[in-house]
Order: sequence, then structure tokens, then C-alpha cells
Amino acid sequence: MNKKSNRLFSGASPEEVQQDLLPLVDFQSAGQPLAKLNQLIEEKLLPHLMRYDHAGFQSMYNSIPEQGAALGAQIALAHNQGVTNWQVSPGGAMLEELCCKSLCLLFQLSAQADATFMYSGTYANQQALYLAIHKKAELQGFDFGKEGMAGFRDPSRLVILTSRDAHFSINQSARMLGLGEQNLVSLEVGTNRQIDPQQLYKTLAELKGTKDVCCIVATAGTTSTGTIDPIETLLEAAQQCNAWLHVDGAYGFSFSLLPECRAQFQGIEKVDSITWDPHKQLGIPIPNSVLFVNNKQDFARISLFSHYFNRESSNEPNPGIKSPPSTRPMSVLPLVTSLLHQGMDEVLEKLRIPLQNIKRLTEHLMTQGDFRCWHEPDTGVLCFQHQPSHVPENHRNDLQTFIYETILSEGKRSISVTQLGDAVVLRILVISPSIHYDDLIETITDIRSIGMRFTDTVKEPHETANHQSQ
Ligand SMILES: Cc1ncc(COP(=O)(O)O)c(C=O)c1O
Repeated sequence: MNKKSNRLFSGASPEEVQQDLLPLVDFQSAGQPLAKLNQLIEEKLLPHLMRYDHAGFQSMYNSIPEQGAALGAQIALAHNQGVTNWQVSPGGAMLEELCCKSLCLLFQLSAQADATFMYSGTYANQQALYLAIHKKAELQGFDFGKEGMAGFRDPSRLVILTSRDAHFSINQSARMLGLGEQNLVSLEVGTNRQIDPQQLYKTLAELKGTKDVCCIVATAGTTSTGTIDPIETLLEAAQQCNAWLHVDGAYGFSFSLLPECRAQFQGIEKVDSITWDPHKQLGIPIPNSVLFVNNKQDFARISLFSHYFNRESSNEPNPGIKSPPSTRPMSVLPLVTSLLHQGMDEVLEKLRIPLQNIKRLTEHLMTQGDFRCWHEPDTGVLCFQHQPSHVPENHRNDLQTFIYETILSEGKRSISVTQLGDAVVLRILVISPSIHYDDLIETITDIRSIGMRFTDTVKEPHETANHQSQ
């Protein structure tokens, strides 16, 4: 088993993984006893799964479920409740409604706020953009749910504004909602990767008279750098053009629970909608996503009733009228049991640890001549370049890619690589509170020693270049 080998996963190639897994999809007429199945899965599948509890896992938003969450997930699975309506699960439907109200209070949202659980942050973003377009249609005097895009005098005028660093689910939503990606306007970011207010107002002035802004999307914790956009400024801009303000806080909204981070979320209680993924920073099993709206009436824009459940006349809770799926799992339960088991003090303390470690790492790297940080971290993500003096500037991007690929191939840790402007940068992301500062320093040590090997790799092209210039 790879657990003993200190690798993140087996390290097998796609071909080898495929070979191992073929017996798992060889469906025969005769069944197999559970014990044998268990053994098969242990041998063939588990070695190839990623170990999110490994101290070297410093790249993605995944984590091993927190203990209380794992208990809730087991119970939810055992009872396999669909929770979209009272008829299918009175307890599940009520628990979800109650939890949504409590979450609105916990996050100090408006008194009229409400929420719904979703399958993923992607769908939460999509639904938020649907609500935004619907609201725009109302302002133009028609029901978007009935008339669709054809109701707009000129649908090509409709635009959504968001950061160039926004998650691709916003692009996906523009496609799925029939707006098309060309109606997504990308906003420039400033030095710390936040949407630049000056650029925003310049863009708005340019669009005036030719385009109708239906939504501005702020990101609270961008995927690449963890940056939190200036929410209150964007809210003012959205209000000026009668647009919806959506905050994609899939990753970062959790941090608004920390009193010391609250200022970065100023205005959050006034925005129209917020996406939040407890399956990212909070260690709740996938799928666990939530969409908040500022006013519970906002959900009426997406409500559809049926004759066999979710009836319009029903007085019982029917969470299914707040989002499209007619079947959803009881993902509320793992969140509830996790918060109850840990207590909010512990939840907050665990949120602080990655922030502190990433901040400390940044401070350290800033004193190292051979590293350059690309931003000051707002959350638990840091993008940087290794810039050893022996690697010329025009090879720096290649160096980062080389480091990334070498680290992945060694299998002891995982970081990621991303592109910010013209620069290829390395990215460390800390989700788990059990990743220590020393684990991050080990990664830096590894990066340095891999950087030394790069010298050999690029020697020839350099020498050639040097000869040519002499
Ligand atoms: C900022 C942001 N928004 C949305 C998403 C999509 O969320 P999900 O993976 O739950 O669909 C992600 C995923 O990483 C994200 O980082």
C-alpha cells in the first residue's frame, strides 16, 4: 500500500492505473462476496487514490473529512435521504432549512438572507448568474423564466463583469445560460491581483450606452492566488448600474468567520449572492456547497412547483424549490456534525493555521534573494518564482515548469503551477491545519535542490546562446 511508502499516491502511469482498474469494471453474471470485493478495491484502487492527509499535499482544495463530518457523512449515507422535499425526508428537509438559517446568522448576513445546499460551487455560481439575469429581465419588465433570452430587446447587450483571475466556472455559466463567453468582460487586476477599481470604472464608462451590465462577480479567494476582491467597491459599482453583485467565495468565504479577516469582507451582508464550498477549506466531504442570497424571496426566481411534491400550496419545508435538482443528498448533516463536534472556537482556530503558515512562508521568502513572491497572501495560497542567480531571466518560466514537473514525478509532495500575466509561477496552497510551517520549508528546500538540477538541463541551450552572442 502506498500509505507506507510516503508517496502521495502510487506514482503509477495512466496506463498502469488503467490496467489495475480494469477488473473493477468487468461486470459478470455471477456476483462476488463483499470481503473479496473489499480486497480487490484495496489492492487495485486505493494505492492510486491521492492522500489528502499527506503533509506534502500542498496544491489542491481537497482534504480528508474532519472526524465530526465523517460521522455525519456515514449516517447520511446509511439513510440515503433525498432532502429536496418534506415528503421524501421530513427530518432532512427541516435540518437543511434550519441549518441554512443558522449559517446566515453565523456569517452575519442580512436578516432576510437565506441559503440552499448545492452539488458544487460551479452550480452555485451558475444559479447566481441565472438569478442575476432574471433580475435584469424584471427591471426591463418581463419574466426571464418564461421568455428566456428572447425577452431582452437585444440579448447581445447583456454582460457580466469579473476578474481576469475568476474561476472558469463563471465562463462555464455564461455558456450554459446562453450568454456566451463573449459577453463576459474580464476586469484587470492590480498589483495584489485584486480587481482594480480604477480599471473597473474605466470599463463601465466604456460599456455605457452599448452594453447592459447584469452582474458583477467578485471573488473572495481566487483560485490561483487566494485574493479577495474589494467587495464594497464592487457593490457600489453594481448598484450604480442596477446590476447584481455575486461573490464567489467557494474557497475564501470561510475566512470571513475570523474576526481578524472580517474587514476584507466589508459589505458582504449587502451583496446579492454568495457561493461557499465547505468541501474546500472546512474539510466536509464532497459534495458540500452552499448558495446564499440576500433575500429569501430571491429564490422565487428559480422555484418550480410540481403536482406530486414541492406543491405550491405546501406549508412544509421543501428545500428543492430553491435550486434545480429534484434529488439531492443530505450534505447538510456532515456540516452540522462537524461544527457541533469541533465547536466554533476550534473551527476558527483551524482556519487560522493555514493563514498563519502561508504568511510566515511569505515573510521568509521575501528575505531570500532567490525567491520572488507574486502577491501578499490574503488567504492560504502563495504564488512565487524561484529565481536562482545561475538561471537567466529568459529561462525562469521554464525553470518553474521544470520544478513543478519534477516534484510531481518524485511523488513525495505536490504543488501547482499557474500563469499570472506572462509569468509562470509556483503555487503553494494549504488547506489542512495539520500541515506545518516546516512542511512548507521542506518544499522550499526541495525546490532549491531541483533548481540546481535545472542548470544542467539548460546548459546546452545557454552555452549555444552565449557562443552566438560572443
Ligand atoms: C474560486 C472558485 N470558485 C468556484 C470553484 C468551483 O467549485 P467546485 O469545484 O465546487 O465546482 C472553485 C474551485 O476550485 C474555485 O476555486
